[in-house]
Amino acid sequence: MKRSVAASLIGLAALYAAAVAAEEVTSLRGHAVTDDADDALNKPTLAVPGGFGVAWEEQPPMIPHPIDNYSIDLRQNGCLKCHSPATFETAKAPKYTDTHRVDRDGNQLDGLAPRRYFCTQCHASQAGAMPLVENVFGER
Ligand code: HEC
Ligand code: HEC
Repeated sequence: MKRSVAASLIGLAALYAAAVAAEEVTSLRGHAVTDDADDALNKPTLAVPGGFGVAWEEQPPMIPHPIDNYSIDLRQNGCLKCHSPATFETAKAPKYTDTHRVDRDGNQLDGLAPRRYFCTQCHASQAGAMPLVENVFGER
């Protein structure tokens, strides 16, 4: 009994998968998503002289310089070469603020909090890509 229920469930799943595959799904660029879509565009990040304004208080500021040569992984964080308390003066870069040293329980740590380690999780760089859809954020 159990076996046949499982078998018919698998059958149903296969039918459903076939129905989904037959449907035409396209990306915003108009490619079929299922087969020969282009590889992800890998454009170099840009310098934006003067930087960006922030759209709301406490927005992580956007990155106004290229970051292609700075990696963030288990062993190293390229951003800290210029933005850490130990390096910012020599680099003439803004230091990450005290909020970057607060752990999830609200304790102020001596160094960077682990949850702030992956800088690009919050700080976005710019690439010379055309917007796929109009951005009307803040205009409503
Ligand atoms: C070689 C030094 C250097 C490195 C490495 C570096 N930055 Fe910067 N960063 C700067 C300087 C200098 C500025 C000030 C604006 C400018 O001159 O472009 C800046 C500005 C910024 C700002 C804007 C701050 C604000 O208040 O508007 C952010 C965010 C930022 N960097 C994030 C990063 C992240 C994330 C990384 C790593 C992926 C990184 N930076 C790596 C030097 C550096
Ligand atoms: C969880 C999100 C998050 C992560 C991860 C994060 N930041 Fe930030 N960052 C913010 C926010 C929000 C602000 C603006 C408000 C503030 O200072 O707390 C900010 C502000 C900054 C500024 C501007 C300082 C100034 O004086 O204007 C710099 C520089 C910066 N971050 C660098 C970094 C670097 C370098 C890393 C990685 C080591 C990093 N941030 C990781 C959210 C983040």
